[in-house]
Amino acid sequence: MTDPVPANSRDSWATRAGFILAAVGSAVGLGNMWRFSYVAAEGGGAAFVLLYIAFVAVIGVPIMTSEFVVGRMSQESPVVAVQRLGGPKWAPLGWLFVFCGFGILSYYSVVAGWTMRYAFDAVRGGLGTDTEAYFQSVATGAPAILSHLVFMVLTVFIVVAGVKRGLERAALILMPILFFLLVGLAIWAATLGDAGAGYGYYLRPQVRELLDPNVIRLAAGQAFFSLSLGMGAMMTYASYLTSKENLGREAATVAVADFGVAFVAGLVIFPVIFHFGLASTIGLGGGISDNTVGTLFITLPTGLKSLGTLGGIVLGAFFIMLFFAALTSAISLLEVVVAAVIDGWGWSRRQAAIWFGVLIALAGIPAAFNINFLDAADKFVGNFLLIVGGFFTAILVGYAIPQRADEELAKGLENPAPRRAWAFFVRYLSPALLLIVIWFMLPTAWRAVVTMLTFGRG
Ligand code: PHE
Repeated sequence: MTDPVPANSRDSWATRAGFILAAVGSAVGLGNMWRFSYVAAEGGGAAFVLLYIAFVAVIGVPIMTSEFVVGRMSQESPVVAVQRLGGPKWAPLGWLFVFCGFGILSYYSVVAGWTMRYAFDAVRGGLGTDTEAYFQSVATGAPAILSHLVFMVLTVFIVVAGVKRGLERAALILMPILFFLLVGLAIWAATLGDAGAGYGYYLRPQVRELLDPNVIRLAAGQAFFSLSLGMGAMMTYASYLTSKENLGREAATVAVADFGVAFVAGLVIFPVIFHFGLASTIGLGGGISDNTVGTLFITLPTGLKSLGTLGGIVLGAFFIMLFFAALTSAISLLEVVVAAVIDGWGWSRRQAAIWFGVLIALAGIPAAFNINFLDAADKFVGNFLLIVGGFFTAILVGYAIPQRADEELAKGLENPAPRRAWAFFVRYLSPALLLIVIWFMLPTAWRAVVTMLTFGRG
């Protein structure tokens, strides 16, 4: 489809599949593999996983539907959208979204840089004998900054290309490859001798842990991060929609795909951790390390090393795939910032992407120097602020514009019963649960801010 775009018209998706794949591309990323395995390890395994599923279903899908509704209704970037719909007092929510996109991408790109470096070194023949030492050597300092910068350049490049040519085509090609590689790895992991112990940790929840505020807080944060919620990313993508599909069904599709990838990733990671006795290396079960950020990057290479050359090939394939997944998420993070600048200040897409890409690259340097800083930024922006953003999104849709939101959803969903259920979730259940989660998160959010301000020492 060619699009003769008049000077003042916005870009849009060429096909419905293009939108879905891009939304799935945004959701599926480092969150499903790097973050999921590190947070699941921190949160005690199966209890975390169960709560995570619950949050995805009970809060994730309704909030994603809300973001889709607001995006398609407004045909504007989130910053403009929330003000036009809710009035000027909603402006801070739009700025919060942009701040989150900016903040998350700044450290996300550092982790994505690690994956690039791993992919590169794995293909060239190995990551050395001591994986932990290798991780330490590439994860901070000059090597980390270099790969972070390269990754940012790639992200800017795709975002400059625009919605149809850049985002849509990238997602169309990359997402299926990713999924098949991951399933292959899970089958391999099932053949490991101690896979059973890994599955047990991963899949058999302890009831007591289900009520642990820490596990609840981690699971809710992970649900939002992994589904790209609470910062207008899904809103921005939906604002490029012009057709009348059922947005509730689209949200459920994205959630199922995203959960599927994370779940299969867990079926790879946990058997490996247990089969190769890596629990203590990553701080599981009272181990020495108190930093689980490196979980994926330490366990997987250690595990696959035992396979010799084949292991090297699989490892290379895995990190190449992870890099692609990270790229389709990173472009959605940058897109929120860029869309705001295009719609709000009238900049060109190229100008906005390049200048803000440079600023984000600079902002990521502290995280590339210091893993504690990265961890804290992830806890504060990637957990806490997303939940706050999600809470206010629910309030906006549920209280400021309930009527119009319902009409918008009705365009693709005529049956009133699911719409009424959605309204109930958005007005009552989600805000109530999110308030509890925010309460549970306050101490860690505060500690994370202190850690950042003291540059990793707090
Ligand atoms: N969902 C992405 C991931 O799992 C990260 C992300 C968060 C992207 C928020 C956009 C917005 O990797």
